[in-house]
Amino acid sequence: MARCVARELVEWSGVDAQRLVDLLVERALGEMGNYYYYTILRMHLVGVEGDALRRVVDDAREEDRNHFEALVTRIYELGGRLPATFASELGGLVALRNLPAEADVPQIIPILLKAAEESVRAYTQLCSATAGKDNRTYNLVLAILHEEIAHQVWLLEFLGRDARDGATHARNISPLVTPHLYSPQSAHLEVNSRTA
Ligand SMILES: [Fe+2]
Repeated sequence: MARCVARELVEWSGVDAQRLVDLLVERALGEMGNYYYYTILRMHLVGVEGDALRRVVDDAREEDRNHFEALVTRIYELGGRLPATFASELGGLVALRNLPAEADVPQIIPILLKAAEESVRAYTQLCSATAGKDNRTYNLVLAILHEEIAHQVWLLEFLGRDARDGATHARNISPLVTPHLYSPQSAHLEVNSRTA
């Protein structure tokens, strides 16, 4: 395996780098699973109530895709990779979630809240594991944690209002994770293409 300075620094600060990479891969799988689930789910959300929930789902879906991309960047920085089994594991994850055959908002909301709750728990644990040791991963997982908590709030706000009032506002997507989407690798390629 080629020398990876980022990984060495993380290990030097007392973090088990392989364990950390495994946890980040697990979260990447969760984020992609959410993205896949939301993509299918939004096709089932029709009618006045379904349409209102779809706006929440669309925003959470877009943020979860950003979470996936930011996590993959950090995984590679740490010398990790997405495993060859990623796609099959994703299939297993998606199969575990029962998608209602028809738009049934009261049935869907608890599923979404449970998924958001699991994400909040996982990112809280990642924050605890990296705080004061791996600043770059800590900043990333803390940013994602804040956005996952926002997903919970959006769903609870949805529950607390009348869907027919149409009162929704445009959200700023991934305000905290967007800075982490800038990849040094992309910058390197960009410099090369300009100097070619
Ligand atoms: Fe997410």
